Amino acid sequence: MEPTITVSAQQIDFFRRNGFLSIEAITDASEIASLRQVYDSLFERRAGREVGDEFDLAGADQDGEVARLPQILSPSKYAPEFAEGLMRVNALQVARQLLGEEADWGGDHAIFKPALYGAETPWHQDEAYWDSSLSYNSISIWVPLQEATVENGCMWFVPGSQNSPLLPHHSIGHDPRVHGLEVDREPMDAAVDLSSAVACPLPPGGATIHHNRTLHYTGPNTSPVPRRAYIMAFALPPQKLDEPRDFYWNRIKQAPRQERAARAAAGA
Ligand code: NI
Repeated sequence: MEPTITVSAQQIDFFRRNGFLSIEAITDASEIASLRQVYDSLFERRAGREVGDEFDLAGADQDGEVARLPQILSPSKYAPEFAEGLMRVNALQVARQLLGEEADWGGDHAIFKPALYGAETPWHQDEAYWDSSLSYNSISIWVPLQEATVENGCMWFVPGSQNSPLLPHHSIGHDPRVHGLEVDREPMDAAVDLSSAVACPLPPGGATIHHNRTLHYTGPNTSPVPRRAYIMAFALPPQKLDEPRDFYWNRIKQAPRQERAARAAAGA
């Protein structure tokens, strides 16, 4: 399958200066409509829960609790439709234009904001979740499977924040059982101007693209429609750092999903 989109020189320049980019369509409407059904069925059956791939990003993720921000890691493992279509081909094309020909697939995840009560995803840099011994140059391509609005939780970015250092983070609510991370407020305020943040509403199947250091946020879903986001990562090969950093917020994490993953890996 051949890609059907490219980004322009102006868009590449915008991405380099601002650390994010918004595009109108990453694929066609029919693929988005069929992926929306596949997506809903994954969240209905909580695909991957027993192996730690499905969990509440914003809560303590106890069994029997209603999740405020359900997330599924590697949805294409459970639904190959996400890997087989034009969206993936176009996303790789765009990633190589932005990062270079060496850029390759870096994994996917899905974040679901239920209608009326889906929680916010606090300000963070994606790199804060990753391996502190590696240096990254990567992008995430964020695709809403319905319209994304300020009311239902579209993306917000701080322009230029891709040039900030990796800032200290903590588990949401300072609860180490919560998977999700939030940047520490004071160092963020010293490093960037949050009042310059830009909201990026999108049509269904549009996309925002951001760098691994770009500060980003999505609001709570106050609308009557669910907000479905599908996110693909692409990266240049990471480099080993001479001096590893200490992401202590990950070292002290006690998320139930980690236990489920460990149990599954042990074959228990
Ligand atoms: Ni993120």
